[in-house]
Amino acid sequence: MNILKNISLKPYNTFGINAYAKRFVSVSSLKELKTVLAKEKDVFLLSGGSNILLTNDIDKLVLHINTKGIIVNDTNTNDVFVTAEAGENWHEFVLWCISQNYGGLENLSLIPGKVGTSPIQNIGAYGVEMKDTFHQLTALEISTGKQRVFTKKDCLFGYRNSIFKNELKGKFIITSVTFKLSKKNHTINDSYGAIKNVLHHNTHPTIKDVSDAVISIRKSKLPNPEEIGNSGSFFKNPVIDFKQFDALQKKYPQIPSYKISSTEIKIPAGWLIEQCGFKGKRFGDAGVHNKQALVLVNYENASGKEILKVADTIKDTVKNKFGIVLEVEVNII
Ligand code: EPU
Repeated sequence: MNILKNISLKPYNTFGINAYAKRFVSVSSLKELKTVLAKEKDVFLLSGGSNILLTNDIDKLVLHINTKGIIVNDTNTNDVFVTAEAGENWHEFVLWCISQNYGGLENLSLIPGKVGTSPIQNIGAYGVEMKDTFHQLTALEISTGKQRVFTKKDCLFGYRNSIFKNELKGKFIITSVTFKLSKKNHTINDSYGAIKNVLHHNTHPTIKDVSDAVISIRKSKLPNPEEIGNSGSFFKNPVIDFKQFDALQKKYPQIPSYKISSTEIKIPAGWLIEQCGFKGKRFGDAGVHNKQALVLVNYENASGKEILKVADTIKDTVKNKFGIVLEVEVNII
C-alpha cells in the first residue's frame, strides 16, 4: 500500500475527467483502510467514481476503496443473505448473483459503480431500487475508526437518496453491503414498459431473461462510460404538485408523468431537457447524449467545469420554460 503522488484521476471516474490527486492511495483490505484512517482523517473517498463530476484537482488524500469478496449466508429458507465487499464491481456482482440463481438484483444490471456506493444514492432502475433487497451494511466512522452496522431503517433510503447523502455525508466509509435475495420463487419485476416490450412473447421470464432485457435496453439508450464519459442520469426526475402539473398539461398535453402520491407527480427530466432542444447538443467536448437527454457526456477532453456549465445552462432553460428547478443527482466535487 503506497501513497502515490500527482495521479491523474481520469481512469477512476466514469466521466473521464482529467483532474489530479496530489496524493492517492488504494486499499484492498479493511486492515489497510484502518491503517490509513489511523493516520489521516481528512480524506477524499473514491469508489467506482460513477456518480461524481470532478471540477477541480483534489488536495486531500484520495482514498480508493478496492476491497473484494463475497460471502453467502444460506438460511435454508427461500432467502439467502449475500454480503459483498465495498470494492466489488456492481454489475459483476449482479451477474454473479444471477449465475447462482439468487434473485432480486437483476433489474439493476449494468449500472456502473461499486457495491459500496450503491446505498449512498439508493441506485435504481426499471422499477426496482437497491433498498428493495438491502438488508444491512457495515461502515467505518472516519473520526473514530469504529465499525457500525446500519439496518435498512437506519439508512433512511429515498429516491436516489439516503442518510449518507445528508446528515452522515463524508462521515462514514461503507465497507460491505448485505442483500437478502431469493433462491427460488423469484419475484419477477417486468412491469416497466421497456422490459415488457423486450420480453413480449416470454410469459415466464427468468431472472436471467430480465437481466438480459435490462442490459439490452441500457445498451440501446445509455452511453457506455468506457466509450463516452458520463455519470448516468445527471439530474433527478423532478416531483411537482398537481396544480403545477395541470397548468403544464394544458400547455403541453403530451407531457409524460408518473403519479407518486395523492398530491405529487414525477416528470421525466429527460423529456423536459429534450423539449428545450438540448438532446444530442454538443458544446466543445461536453454535451447531452443523443438517445437520453438526462445524461451529460464528455466526448473526450471536457473539463468538469465545462460539463457543469452545460448543466447550468440546461437548468436555467428548463426553469424559464417550465418553471421547474432541476436538482443535480451527481455529486459535484
Ligand atoms: N424521455 C424523453 N427524452 C429523453 C429521455 C427520456 O422524452 O431524452 C422521456 C420519455 O417519455 C420516457 C421517459 O422520459 O418514456 C422516461 O425515460 P427512461 O425510461 O429512460 O427513464 P428516466 O426517467 O429518464 C430513470 C432513471 C435512470 C434509469 C431509468 C430506467 C432517474 C434520475 N433516472 O431515467 O437511472 O435507468 O429511469 O429505470 O431516476 C441513473 O440514475 O444514472 C439512471 C440512468
